[in-house]
Amino acid sequence: MTQLSNTASTCENQWKMWLLEVFAVMYLAAVCVAQDNTASTQSTPPPTTVYVPPKPVLELKSGRPDVYTKEKVELECKISGSDWLITWQNNGTNVQSPDLSASGDGSVLTIASATTADSGNYVCLGKHKTRNVDTESSNSHSISVTEPPIPTLNRLSHWSDVFVGESVKFSCEVSNPDWTFTWYRDTTDLHKEGPQLHFTSVTKADQGQYACKVKLKSRAVYSEFSKPADLTVNENKPKPTVTRSLSFNPMYPGESITFTCAVGVSTGWEYVWYHNGKEIHSPSNDTYSIPSLAISNSGEYYCKAKRGETPFYTEKSDTLTLQVSEIPVPKLNNVTQWLDLFPTETAKLRCQMQGSDMWTFTWYRNTREVKADDTVNIENNGKTLSIKSASASHRGNYTCSGKLTDRSVGSNKSSKLMLHVYDAKPTAALMQDPKHNLMHTGDSVSFSCHISVSSGWGYLWEKDGRPLQASGNQLNISSVKKEDSGSYKCQVKRGKDELFKSEPSQVVELEVEERPQASLVLLTGWSEVFATDSLVLKCEVEDKTYTWNYTWFREEKLLNLTPSEKHIVTPQANPEQGHYTCQGIRNERPFYSRTSEPFKTKNLLLKRRVLLSISGCLFFGIIAVFLGCIACRVFRKPAADGKPEEPNLFLTMAQLKDSTNAPCPLVEYITDADLNPPQKEGEEDETVCSETTPLPVSTQEEQAVTTNSQGTTENGGGMVSFQH
Ligand SMILES: *[C@@H]1O[C@H](CO)[C@@H](O)[C@H](O)[C@H]1NC(C)=O
Ligand SMILES: *[C@@H]1O[C@H](CO)[C@@H](O)[C@H](O)[C@H]1NC(C)=O
Ligand SMILES: *[C@@H]1O[C@H](CO)[C@@H](O)[C@H](O)[C@H]1NC(C)=O
Ligand SMILES: *[C@@H]1O[C@H](CO)[C@@H](O)[C@H](O)[C@H]1NC(C)=O
Ligand SMILES: *[C@@H]1O[C@H](CO)[C@@H](O)[C@H](O)[C@H]1NC(C)=O
Ligand SMILES: *[C@@H]1O[C@H](CO)[C@@H](O)[C@H](O)[C@H]1NC(C)=O
Ligand SMILES: *[C@@H]1O[C@H](CO)[C@@H](O)[C@H](O)[C@H]1NC(C)=O
Repeated sequence: MTQLSNTASTCENQWKMWLLEVFAVMYLAAVCVAQDNTASTQSTPPPTTVYVPPKPVLELKSGRPDVYTKEKVELECKISGSDWLITWQNNGTNVQSPDLSASGDGSVLTIASATTADSGNYVCLGKHKTRNVDTESSNSHSISVTEPPIPTLNRLSHWSDVFVGESVKFSCEVSNPDWTFTWYRDTTDLHKEGPQLHFTSVTKADQGQYACKVKLKSRAVYSEFSKPADLTVNENKPKPTVTRSLSFNPMYPGESITFTCAVGVSTGWEYVWYHNGKEIHSPSNDTYSIPSLAISNSGEYYCKAKRGETPFYTEKSDTLTLQVSEIPVPKLNNVTQWLDLFPTETAKLRCQMQGSDMWTFTWYRNTREVKADDTVNIENNGKTLSIKSASASHRGNYTCSGKLTDRSVGSNKSSKLMLHVYDAKPTAALMQDPKHNLMHTGDSVSFSCHISVSSGWGYLWEKDGRPLQASGNQLNISSVKKEDSGSYKCQVKRGKDELFKSEPSQVVELEVEERPQASLVLLTGWSEVFATDSLVLKCEVEDKTYTWNYTWFREEKLLNLTPSEKHIVTPQANPEQGHYTCQGIRNERPFYSRTSEPFKTKNLLLKRRVLLSISGCLFFGIIAVFLGCIACRVFRKPAADGKPEEPNLFLTMAQLKDSTNAPCPLVEYITDADLNPPQKEGEEDETVCSETTPLPVSTQEEQAVTTNSQGTTENGGGMVSFQH
């Protein structure tokens, strides 16, 4: 692209000039040749003129041999004389382009915008316009054309998307210090210089594509754009999320936990961890691990992410609460009420951990682990231990410990429970109070069943092999009957689902006899009615096995007398008289008999006398009639022999004597026995016939000393009605 600058003004002028030059050259040449010829042909050589073409001189017009592309380079070739055509060579080859400009003669080579291809070694040569003469090559000038360096744009942070407020730094680099830097966003010159572009706090407006160029400090040489870098500015600060590896609450000492912090956007984050609001000084990883928790690790955790030198912090994450508690100690309890067992008995123990259901329990007997087997059940994750049939091997101190399901957390052992197993089943002891095997009806007896070991007992009673209704440890019979005779036994029991029974007690035999009956007899006979003023009563107990003393009662009240078989009732001493009973008593068992039937004595003597008088009158009346009849028979003529006698009408004395047993129909009809039943009032007075027969007294034997006086009052009433 050489360019020739032609400055010829007119064609005519050029032509004239050229002619002049040619003539001048020819003249000079002729002179020189002449001189040469003279010099060579003569001893004193004649002055000949040898034409020596001048050596061109190449000069660098633009000042510097090393340029950058697009710079201008000017070379000037100087040859004395003016009839030279100048040619240019680079690396020995002609510069092709004819556009060499030499101020009129092409002596100036101008490269207006250099390229790397223009580098090389330049020389120039002159060729005479008219004569076939060439000059030699000029001195050479080496021109080097280089591309300006393309700077490298670096983002000093490694993320392309930033957040409002974050600081951002770009740097532009070239190896050569001769360059200055210029900065562009979206190819717009920012008019900022320096090797770094620094935003301390970016705004949305700073978003764009950044690039830089370098400029030579001394000249206006500009490089191409660097590779661009995008900057995206997000308006909202990100909020990291925090998670933990184990979500159990509480956690226990020794467990490990890892918190993880994550910012969903962009990159280059470092993490800051906070515990109860204070920054944790630890490597700023996105995870925070506590390999072995302690109570002091309890609290609130959150994280923030940061990056950059300033640095830029994200929002803080949500807060996670970590609770680290002491490992609880399980509670061991007995479900069965008693901890001392008998062989074959059942028992149940329970191990519990307050608050949580996630525990599995292990059982120990005297520090050795207890495994489930034929006699021991361990159920419900070990919460209960059941002994199905106790034996001596189950004796010992039981403890339990808990382990958290799926976690490496084990508790200490619980407090212990001592379980005792007796060698043998217990035997109940049956006691009787009073202790007599033979009892009489009406006696009271109390059986009691005793067991001296353990507790929680219930009682089972048995008579003649059949269970009784009683359930307490005492069986009371306040008034025994004959049917209560039998053999008694008791047993103790306990347990709900599985009933455990002791060995039965020894057998206690009870025999109940009828209590002997007392009876009351009137000793005073009819013949004594007129001779005595008193009645004699006698008490008798039929049962002759025992000897008896007797007590007497009037109107149910004990007569305070010395005990005696007989009791005399006199109307003078006892004007009231009344209603007597008696009872046999003893110093030994049986202490008393049943009470006799009551006997009423009120005015009994008087009544008898009246009766006797009446019957006496009747008797003598009859005798008189009888005698009258005999007299009539004797003194009257016997009427007729055919007339039968009537011997049956009247008994003879002899006949009378013979038949003492039933002397009068009245007596047959009314007896003392009828007198006595107090219920039939109004009859008793008429009856007394065979007075010597002892009066059977039917008493209410059940009422011993204290009876109700209902019947007797009634009775007395009857008597009264008779009297009046
Ligand atoms: C001339 O030679 C130099 C070095 O040998 C080389 O760098 C340059 O490109 C050459 N120029 C041309 C136009 O061939
Ligand atoms: C940071 O976390 C990585 C895994 O994310 C882990 O390999 C590295 O050991 C952790 N550095 C520290 C100091 O905990
Ligand atoms: C467990 O028992 C050991 C030894 O008795 C004691 O030092 C420790 O504090 C106990 N741990 C708990 C959680 O009770
Ligand atoms: C556990 O045993 C004790 C002593 O033997 C007893 O007092 C307590 O009532 C029992 N507990 C239960 C729930 O039965
Ligand atoms: C069980 O504990 C008691 C004290 O509570 C102790 O006297 C007894 O020796 C212990 N039994 C065994 C077998 O360790
Ligand atoms: C049985 O009698 C005794 C006294 O002998 C008394 O203490 C006890 O309460 C009585 N028991 C019943 C069930 O009546
Ligand atoms: C009857 O009473 C007397 C005197 O109180 C006494 O000595 C005697 O042992 C008693 N007899 C009987 C069988 O109780």
